[in-house]
Amino acid sequence: MVKIRWLGHSAFEISTQKVVVYVDPFLSNNPTAAIKVDEIKKADYVLVSHDHFDHMGDAVKIAKKTDATLIAVPEVALSIKEKIKTVAPNLGAMVNLENLKVALVPAFHTCSKGSPVGFVFTVDGKTIYHAGDTSLFGDMKLIGEIYKPEVALLPVGGYYTMGPLEASVAVTLINPKIVIPMHYGTFPVIEQTPDKFVEETRKKAPTVQIVILKPGETYELK
Ligand code: NI
Ligand code: MN
Repeated sequence: MVKIRWLGHSAFEISTQKVVVYVDPFLSNNPTAAIKVDEIKKADYVLVSHDHFDHMGDAVKIAKKTDATLIAVPEVALSIKEKIKTVAPNLGAMVNLENLKVALVPAFHTCSKGSPVGFVFTVDGKTIYHAGDTSLFGDMKLIGEIYKPEVALLPVGGYYTMGPLEASVAVTLINPKIVIPMHYGTFPVIEQTPDKFVEETRKKAPTVQIVILKPGETYELK
């Protein structure tokens, strides 16, 4: 079983019996954060999609504290001054790590160092696509075809990323079994609820299950 816990914004805790993964752990100064860094006792990997503060967040702190391996593009990984373990592949192919397979995939967005990315990763036989911050782009169809992610975690809040309309089209390109919206409700400029995304997705992709989590809630993927 894979537990997918939304921590607010784009931050997720993905855990199995063997491995604990944090993605974009923006917890400190995140008004919607479900947990504090102090509550994190164990982590094996910390994935960072790009160097914006709301994604880099507490990644280094968590890696330092738990001895987890931080995964990001080389430019972001090399810029970290603290002594932590890093794995820094570039965009391209699946990388096999202990209890985790991960590929960095494109995200259309901006950042200061390197390129923004999304992640497709497999834990305990389940494949999840975390799109990072991105606009809609046609190659999401390829990500869906190649990796067949069971779950897609997609930004839907608009302004900084896709909004509800674009994200609902992304669902049709990726064709996951389950979609969980993220990157909304954190700041005044982004959509405060996933309602429009739900409405649009029900129209365009009626067979896809939409899972709405509140920060702190867990979806159990069996
Ligand atoms: Ni960003
Ligand atoms: Mn962001």
